[in-house]
Amino acid sequence: MNSFVLRLALGACVLSSVSAYGQLEGHTIESSATPHSVPAIQDKETPAQHDARMAWWREARFGMFIHWGLYAVPAGEWHGQRTTHIGEWIMNDLSIPVADYKQFATNFNPTGFSAHDIVALAKDAGMKYIVITSKHHDGFAMFDSKTDPFNIVAATPFKKDPLRELAEECHKAGIHLGFYYSQAQDWTAPGGAAAVRGNHNKETGHWDAAQDGSFDDYLKNKAIPQIKELLSNYKTAPDIIWFDTPTSKMTPERAAEVVKVLNQYPKLIWNNRLGGGYKGDTETPEQYIPAQGYPGRDWESCMTINDTWGYKSFDTNFKSTETLLHNLIDITSKGGNYLLNIGPDAQGKVPEPEVERLHAMGKWLAVNGEAIYGAKATLFGPEAGSFAPAEGNAKPKFVPAWEWRSTTKANRIYIHLFAWPKGSFHVEKVPRTVTKAYLLADPGHKALKFTQKEGVLDVSLPEKALDPIATVLVLESK
Ligand code: GLC
Repeated sequence: MNSFVLRLALGACVLSSVSAYGQLEGHTIESSATPHSVPAIQDKETPAQHDARMAWWREARFGMFIHWGLYAVPAGEWHGQRTTHIGEWIMNDLSIPVADYKQFATNFNPTGFSAHDIVALAKDAGMKYIVITSKHHDGFAMFDSKTDPFNIVAATPFKKDPLRELAEECHKAGIHLGFYYSQAQDWTAPGGAAAVRGNHNKETGHWDAAQDGSFDDYLKNKAIPQIKELLSNYKTAPDIIWFDTPTSKMTPERAAEVVKVLNQYPKLIWNNRLGGGYKGDTETPEQYIPAQGYPGRDWESCMTINDTWGYKSFDTNFKSTETLLHNLIDITSKGGNYLLNIGPDAQGKVPEPEVERLHAMGKWLAVNGEAIYGAKATLFGPEAGSFAPAEGNAKPKFVPAWEWRSTTKANRIYIHLFAWPKGSFHVEKVPRTVTKAYLLADPGHKALKFTQKEGVLDVSLPEKALDPIATVLVLESK
């Protein structure tokens, strides 16, 4: 047993099961205070260097998540059985044997896929970056991998590399591109990790002997070589690596081997889901918006438009454009980014309800983007809601309020009005002197009457809102 495998095996059973899933509400992904054997860029760079590296990301505020892969073929159903869980987990949830699952590749020929159209959709929606699943938990690579033949070029009739096409289109459109990579979970590679579900093996999470093997071999012979491919195959990408579900397999020693590779790309941004106690650059709350954000930490709320990341033909529970825009504004007002997901189908087509909502969001941002891009968190706070008193030892629950939110820039305070106040907008404890007030959607930016005394501000408003979803009141201030 060589030293690489030996060293890794030694630290295998440290972390709890929480890391088997994402960063769900109430969960925190622990990062260790103990110095890492291999310091990551976050451990080495100065605050100024960190700010410079994160600058474009903080300016962006809004990105597109793309969950696309072989799981789009069964689209949530297999042998007449439908999964009630997220579509990309169908292999695990329905205990599909490895050989059966790999069969889907022979029918995967997404001739309807257009990297140009997807990038144009992101651009029109007002999104500034894209993160696409290059390999999800099922182990299928959505790129031309020389490391493992279970990929879209070698194993399907499609024979093209969609990541290469996306990288070229993103570069032309000035959109940043990142790759999601499931570094620990891999349900088709021997030794890959698997979150334990149902009656699967309690130790390994496996349900098919073909999955058994050495995790260290999997990491050394598949995961790390593929991460190297993703970081070097494409001239202009990636700007982000988005890790997921580290499970207990990603010990500090194993994660350090990945960090050695990441450290060769000093501009790269990576999240808090690598494992091994590495905090990464961003917190990644999933399917929820933290009550008060993560003060002092960059964070990104990732969310589905319906209830699944990967395409499910029968999931039609699409959120309204109003909800999606209110989420974007709420997240920005708490200093975070919004990574909103699309799930293309097996032809590579984006479901129409997702396209419609993204275009509608883009329309609002075309008028009001100034109050989102590069904007910082609110100078107020209580407008977001309050904690309801808790029974017994229960955690106090946050009850959001939805009248308005605020975002901030050097000499501007933006008030995003969801509910249109009668006659005037009133707010107290304004920490700046307002010099002019107007509505952003009013092309003439006509000055509105206002009074301000000891931090108490009242702005006279026209009878009707200019936008039913959110009308932005701009307070020029010093
Ligand atoms: C969770 C899910 C995974 C999904 C990710 C997105 O970790 O397990 O399927 O890709 O969230 O945040």
